[in-house]
Amino acid sequence: MADTTRERWSSRTAFLFAAIGSAVGLGNVWRFPYMAYDNGGGAFLVAWMIGLLVLGIPWLMMEFGLGKMFQKGAPGAFAGIGRKWEWLGWWPVWVAFLIVAYYAVVIAWALRYAISSFTMQWGTGEAAAQSTGDFFYGTILNLSSGPTDFGGMEWLTLGMLGLIWIVLFIIMFKGANVIGKVAIYTVVIPWILLMVLLIRGLTLPGAMEGLNYYLNPDWSALLTGDIWFAAFSQIAFTLSVGMAGMYAYGSFLAKKADVNNNAMITGFANNATSFLAGFAVFSTLGFLASSLSVAVPDVADSGLGLAFITFPSAISMMPAANGFIGALFFLTLFFLGIDSAFFLAHGGVIAPLRDKFGGKLWKWTAGVSIVGFLAGAIFCTQAGLYWLDMVDRAVSFYGLLLTGALSCIVVGWFWKPQILRENLNATSDVKIGAWWDWLIKLVVPIALFFVMIYGGFMNDIPNAYEGYQVGPFNGSHILWLILGVGLIISFALQMVRTRGEEA
Ligand code: PFF
Repeated sequence: MADTTRERWSSRTAFLFAAIGSAVGLGNVWRFPYMAYDNGGGAFLVAWMIGLLVLGIPWLMMEFGLGKMFQKGAPGAFAGIGRKWEWLGWWPVWVAFLIVAYYAVVIAWALRYAISSFTMQWGTGEAAAQSTGDFFYGTILNLSSGPTDFGGMEWLTLGMLGLIWIVLFIIMFKGANVIGKVAIYTVVIPWILLMVLLIRGLTLPGAMEGLNYYLNPDWSALLTGDIWFAAFSQIAFTLSVGMAGMYAYGSFLAKKADVNNNAMITGFANNATSFLAGFAVFSTLGFLASSLSVAVPDVADSGLGLAFITFPSAISMMPAANGFIGALFFLTLFFLGIDSAFFLAHGGVIAPLRDKFGGKLWKWTAGVSIVGFLAGAIFCTQAGLYWLDMVDRAVSFYGLLLTGALSCIVVGWFWKPQILRENLNATSDVKIGAWWDWLIKLVVPIALFFVMIYGGFMNDIPNAYEGYQVGPFNGSHILWLILGVGLIISFALQMVRTRGEEA
């Protein structure tokens, strides 16, 4: 029954763009360039491409492939492997839900900045450029003193968040067919905008100095653990694997569709976007450093700081059309983020719930949109940034690495990866060999555990994460709590038996 009513992509192009759009997100602009700069420049590119080939693409093939083979999202696919594994499909659903809850808030900030750009509300000139931090923490966030000091609600942000969820609902409620068509725009528009920002960046004074920092290779870095940690964590984060959605995106493919080639195209298109975005970012950072007469490392930044503090500074210092460039930059962030958001919400949460419980797609979409909006409200309070930081660390670092590693272990050792490989090869142009089984069995889990231990536990177990304190719990406790709650919910959902599932 499910097969005839299953959502379907309207074409292979639609699927590819949806997959590329989910992978290409804020991380390509605000995480990758800094990672490269901070970890050996050009040498990082080598480690990162190796990560793509041995970790990212094989893992992506597994997620697409299981979705396609079982024609279900993550929980249904793991239930197909064995009833006792269904929880392992739900855990990343929890991860996806929490990520989209805060990701949508970040997009809301980007929209507020896009609007502020029209009047250059944060100001132009050097004094303004030096105080963009005040604008972000003060005017936009109204940041309180700590995670339990909620202060009031930032109504403007909440309003934007509501708007974003309405847009997401409209894109998602008809399912894969419309998502695939919208994705073509949400991928191509930011590509064009990034090219404009790139050209603007490269024509600014100081640009070359910035690029030097971005790509100047330090080959000795390849001998350190840091570069491999950075490369593998970036690959895991950037391909949007480990967050349930890619199983569902694979499940909207017909059983005879190609997977291997599509996974490779998705991976390479994503990395190419990151590489280009790095030029736009570092040329602009080079300009900022030279116009403030400081060194590039003094302005190099990543994450929220890069997007909402450093880039606005650079825009303040630009010789002309500041507001226009500002609007372009923040609209780029909006378009980069929105298709990752509908991927997380639809593929990661809505499709798995509907697989299990049946019912009308629009109702599930409305329900998840409302709950996602309400959950996001906590990040719109004056303590929002602290919570965003903790939830981000819990789910988009530990959550996706842990569930990803466990999934590969279950597929590799408790099932037969060759079953999946034969299924993939039967319909794909490019055939994969038995080496793929070993990547899934050993290489991917070991790499992910290495990232988790080296870049995570070694820091978060002895130290309270970021020194946060919430009642009796410190920041690290909160991380384990967030993950633990997700695990309990996952087991509970596994125990629920719905009609259509034999006992
Ligand atoms: N892959 C997307 C990005 O790099 O921005 C989407 C994404 C990944 C969002 C991981 C959030 C996240 F934690």
